[in-house]
Amino acid sequence: MSDSTMKLPLLLVLLFILPLIRAQVPHWGPCPEPAVQPSFILKQFMGRWFEIAKLPAQFERGRCIESNFTLTPGNSIRVVSSEILKGELRKIEGIGVVEDIKNPAKLGITYSYVLPYSPYWIMSTDYVNYALVYSCTDILRLFHVDFAWILGRTRTLPEATIETARQTFADNNIDVSRMIGSKQQGCEKFF
Ligand SMILES: *[C@@H]1O[C@H](CO)[C@@H](O)[C@H](O)[C@H]1NC(C)=O
Repeated sequence: MSDSTMKLPLLLVLLFILPLIRAQVPHWGPCPEPAVQPSFILKQFMGRWFEIAKLPAQFERGRCIESNFTLTPGNSIRVVSSEILKGELRKIEGIGVVEDIKNPAKLGITYSYVLPYSPYWIMSTDYVNYALVYSCTDILRLFHVDFAWILGRTRTLPEATIETARQTFADNNIDVSRMIGSKQQGCEKFF
C-alpha cells in the first residue's frame, strides 16, 4: 500500500474520533454487548421522550432536551430532537432504522446524510414511563466511546426508577458513574 492510501483512512478515523474524545473519555477494549429489550415493539416506543439523564456529562449543552419519534411509511423512523439553548428552541431532525430485523431493539439513528447510523439500542423500556438507551462505537476494536440515556415519558422520573436504570447499565458493564441529570425545569413556555 502506498503512503497516501494509508493516510486517508487514518485521517477519516481521526475525524470521527476527535469529536467523540472531546465529549467522552474513551474506554479500552471493544464495546460491551448489553442485553436489549426482549420482544421490542417499535410502535409502542414511538412518541415523545424526555431526556432524564445522560452520559457523558455535557455541561455546556442545552436544556429541556426531548425527542419525538414517528414511524414513517417504509418503516423508517422520523426523529425530531429539540432543546433550549441560549433561550431559543432548537430542533434537529434525524432518521432511525431497525438495523437488524432479528434484533428490533437495536436501532440506528443518524442526524446527517453524510454520517453513518449510530447505534441506538433500547436496553429496557416499559414504553409508558421509562426507556434506557445505549450507543457504543468501537474504534479499531482497541477502545470504544459510548453514550447512554435514561428517557422518560414525563420530564421527571421517580428517584427509584433512575436508580434502577443506573443499576441496569452497571449490571451490563456500562460505566455510568459520570452520568448526570438533565435540566427539565422551566421548559413548558417554549413548547
Ligand atoms: C410528534 O410528531 C408527530 C408527527 O410529526 C406530531 O403529530 C406531534 O405533534 C409531535 N409531538 C410533539 C410533542 O412534538
